[in-house]
Amino acid sequence: MEKSNAVEWDDRYTVGVQMIDEQHKELFSMINNFYPGCLKEGEKANIHFKLMVYGFINYIKYHFDTEEQFLERLKYPDSMAHKRQHDEFIRVILEKMEKVELGQPVSFKNFTRYIRDWLVTHITLIDKKYATYIHFINGQIKTADKSLPPVVHKIGPLHFSESAEIPSEMFFG
Ligand SMILES: [Fe+2]
Repeated sequence: MEKSNAVEWDDRYTVGVQMIDEQHKELFSMINNFYPGCLKEGEKANIHFKLMVYGFINYIKYHFDTEEQFLERLKYPDSMAHKRQHDEFIRVILEKMEKVELGQPVSFKNFTRYIRDWLVTHITLIDKKYATYIHFINGQIKTADKSLPPVVHKIGPLHFSESAEIPSEMFFG
């Protein structure tokens, strides 16, 4: 996979919560590290790729925990649906790793693409929803301070469709 397909951090991925933005950046950098390895073949390359994916799974589980606890503290209305998306992603990649472990054919290139595209889509469509919610809450607090009417009409509905998820079949058939 050529370098141009790697994922570059951009300000449009910012959710405005420093700890979460830092974790997202770390995930991007882990995905970029998959790239040189996902085209190589042979036993050594396989072992190396598997170790990187397991490292990524551990880190993203830790990241999801951080995010879910944060959303719960925030009393974010869509926290359960958000968690379901996280769980489904973990389920899909663990299922793929099971195939890899059983020696079944799995394209590491497609696997890497799936992980990258899922993460980018999740941040831009789903995580951004709670960024909007935070702005809404902050706006409400400021508005309340100034005794002005709330700005609810400026905020779109917070509910999102779970179809925003990328179906894994698109990558694995
Ligand atoms: Fe998330």
